[in-house]
Amino acid sequence: MEIKVDEISKIIRQQIEGYDKQTDLAEVGTVISVGDGIARIYGLDKAMAGELLALPHDVMGMVLNLEEDNVGAVLLGEAALIKEGDQVRRTRRIMQVPAGEAMLGRVVDPLGNPLDGKGPIQASATMNLERIAPGVVQRQPVKEPLQTGLKTIDSMTPIGRGQRELIIGDRQTGKTAIALDTIINQKHLDVISIYVAIGQKQSTIAQVVKTLEDHDAMRKTIVVAAAASSPAPMQYLAPYGGAAIGEYFQFHGADGKEASKDNPGHHVLCIYDDLSKHAAAYREISLLLRRPPGREAYPGDVFYLHSRLLERASKLSDANGGGSLTALPIIETQAGDISAYIPTNVISITDGQIFLESDLFYAGVRPAMNVGLSVSRVGGNAQVKAMKQIAGTLRLSLAQFRELEAFAQFGSDLDKATQAQLNRGRKLVEVLKQGQYEPLPVTKQVLIIYAAANGFLDDLPVELLSQFEKDLYQHFDLNYSELLVQLGEKAGLTDELKEGLKKGVGEVAAQFKATHGVAG
Ligand SMILES: Nc1ncnc2c1ncn2[C@@H]1O[C@H](COP(=O)(O)OP(=O)(O)O)[C@@H](O)[C@H]1O
Ligand SMILES: [Mg+2]
Repeated sequence: MEIKVDEISKIIRQQIEGYDKQTDLAEVGTVISVGDGIARIYGLDKAMAGELLALPHDVMGMVLNLEEDNVGAVLLGEAALIKEGDQVRRTRRIMQVPAGEAMLGRVVDPLGNPLDGKGPIQASATMNLERIAPGVVQRQPVKEPLQTGLKTIDSMTPIGRGQRELIIGDRQTGKTAIALDTIINQKHLDVISIYVAIGQKQSTIAQVVKTLEDHDAMRKTIVVAAAASSPAPMQYLAPYGGAAIGEYFQFHGADGKEASKDNPGHHVLCIYDDLSKHAAAYREISLLLRRPPGREAYPGDVFYLHSRLLERASKLSDANGGGSLTALPIIETQAGDISAYIPTNVISITDGQIFLESDLFYAGVRPAMNVGLSVSRVGGNAQVKAMKQIAGTLRLSLAQFRELEAFAQFGSDLDKATQAQLNRGRKLVEVLKQGQYEPLPVTKQVLIIYAAANGFLDDLPVELLSQFEKDLYQHFDLNYSELLVQLGEKAGLTDELKEGLKKGVGEVAAQFKATHGVAG
């Protein structure tokens, strides 16, 4: 940096002049250098970290570095209009976003400004962008399921409301697809969704919004977007903005008043797509602020960046209204490397991960979840009981199947029992496949998994399975709707229900075999 003697001497002279009348000096500062969306400001001795600064031309700044003789701030807005020597005022406020019911169905930037051209938002409240996560006493353990509507996930890595579950995988493995299906599945449930798009192409974000609109899910969703073209500070702020908008619903009842024992808070689902790009934006800012680079050139506090975001996922105690905020962060890996810096960080912060694999994806197993490497540590407590009973051995069966399958590649002389096990495994893998935008209620998931795990599909050829699945759901909708309701209830699979299932599924199987001429 070039040292300008007259500027420095001017600052020193000002300092001496103001030596005994320190009135307002600390509240107004001067830009001493600006570039790349970063400004160094002299004279804001009392500024707080994270404080909002007011600059000319309606540009705002946010304090990130507090140094001995200046503060480093990122600029939000038209940074190019700011010049050296411009005056900067403290606002004594930290960053806030508008919040409230009026946000539903809207697409906004990380500061809550509308991006969808549908006019201004009449927000009823404002929330601090950064907020200390609810403490232990304010919480309670996760106890309700957050249904994704995806058979693979709801059966084997169930997610609870208030949990943090990571979706991780290479590009083009269906990460965003899982997130969107989960949002679509909430449209008849009491969950408000927030989709935070960080560093994505504008066209991709537009596509997401359109998909949600087409499936009538946008009315209960808020999209917070900081596209790849927006400045790094905006991308950095995006997930905090999304969390803050979500927290409004979590902490407030339907009447807009503070949630309490008699005024339940809402359930919120927050998707951060994706935190790899978020970390990269933060790295960019940090390097521009000349913070020392650490591992993979990320600054030392990049772990804190994500932990303070994800700690905000919580299930509040009944006294606090029982609202919840579930976080589904997404991480994009390079060539399946989950041991890179950011992936390991986020894995260690979350309560489990859904690991998606390119190999599976291209082999047609979609969602491409690697069952062995995916876990969910708390959601099991919240899983629907019937599903828990039926899916208990699913993971193990699939693991055994994969082992056998690898082994079976070497020869064809397999005994009957092994062949039967392989056949069963193949059917299980097949019924766990699921197309996009077709989330299934959990009771129907129980039906098909029950049918596969209990051998009803053993005689059916793989290509007919999706037709069978349709027939099965239709048959139960028409003849056993009562049973379907009971499947979702607390009691789980009672003996009576098991009998009913066996009878119903048996009927469909017999009928199906007759119409399709399958022997057995
Ligand atoms: N279950 C699925 N069935 C069929 N196609 C899928 C499925 N999941 C994802 N896809 C398709 O795969 C592509 C990549 O998915 P996407 O969610 O964008 O991946 P990522 O977010 O991991 O990059 C998209 O074209 C999407 O439509
Ligand atoms: Mg994606």
